[in-house]
Amino acid sequence: MTHNLITGTGSALPATRVANDDLASRLDTSDSWIRERTGIRARRIADPATTTADLATEAAARALEAAGLEAGAIDLVVLATATPDLTFPATAARVQARLGITRGAAFDIAAVCSGFIYALAVADSLLKAGQGSRALVIGAETFSRLLDWDDRATAVLFGDGAGAVVLETRAAVPGETPRGILASRLHADGRHEGLLYVDGGPGTTGTVGKLRMAGRDVFRHAVHNLTSVVDEILAEAQLGVEAIDWIIPHQANLRIIEATAKKLGFPMAKVIVTVDEHANTSAASVPLALDVAVRDGRIRPGQLCLLEAMGGGFTWGALLLRM
Ligand code: UT7
Repeated sequence: MTHNLITGTGSALPATRVANDDLASRLDTSDSWIRERTGIRARRIADPATTTADLATEAAARALEAAGLEAGAIDLVVLATATPDLTFPATAARVQARLGITRGAAFDIAAVCSGFIYALAVADSLLKAGQGSRALVIGAETFSRLLDWDDRATAVLFGDGAGAVVLETRAAVPGETPRGILASRLHADGRHEGLLYVDGGPGTTGTVGKLRMAGRDVFRHAVHNLTSVVDEILAEAQLGVEAIDWIIPHQANLRIIEATAKKLGFPMAKVIVTVDEHANTSAASVPLALDVAVRDGRIRPGQLCLLEAMGGGFTWGALLLRM
């Protein structure tokens, strides 16, 4: 019996921090509205020369360093993004090349804010299927490029960044509690496209397009879907919510995070929150939050962690792992 264990985490943020007041100086909004409705205080915004691959490569290099591995040991690069550098090649292939990896597989996953959960579940399955024994799994975005900076309802919500993990196959030690990814559940329901989408793309309008969202409807679906997928994965694992040491949720809105925790009966003291400083970084949000909490010593080896996210598609999912 083997499990795929996270042996290193890393992240990268652009240097430029944009506070709510900076946005309020050019949009009809205010620091108090943004903080009260979302919990966001600031976000990082990439300069025009920085791409998703730049942030992803930096985060991946840190994860490799934390795992004590050379890049050449990696068999698989899976990168979740809704803001790839180019239509093709995959941003994962660009990251692979920059890290000096010349073998194995590399591809992108498009599941927007749920992308990292999808990517981790897919990498776990591929390693179990024999594609290798070490994967780099990355969530990276330059989401600021998709924003309509004149739309106060969406422009204030998002930021740029990247997070990465190294996943390594380990044989279970008889008599010891298994560590690694224990279960994952992925969902999609394409009927809700109109509530959260980008109004462009190379195959339709030939333009990149801008993000459009019916925020209140997305909020409602998010709390419902996240609660239900967490219930589903816990039932599958035959665990109660009290067994979980940490929930690392998608960082879209503090009110969504709090409402979901309340419905689950889970204390906010054991929920990792970074939305205040990162805002919503889409596929990067969960690995960014994970890296913050691993590096500040809250998340420790042996602890049971639950990752969850919901985003455009709709897509949503959860993943249970022991660090
Ligand atoms: O990653 C997954 C995808 N995204 C999400 O999960 C986001 C889900 N949705 C949300 O987080 C929230 O719905 C928002 C933060 C987007 C909006 O919060 P809300 O409490 O649902 O506000 P609302 O959309 O109902 O808007 C309330 C009022 C409106 O004014 P009126 O119609 O009541 O006069 C908006 O025009 O707030 C106004 N408003 C703003 N005011 C100041 C909307 N955006 C802003 C703004 N600053 N930035």
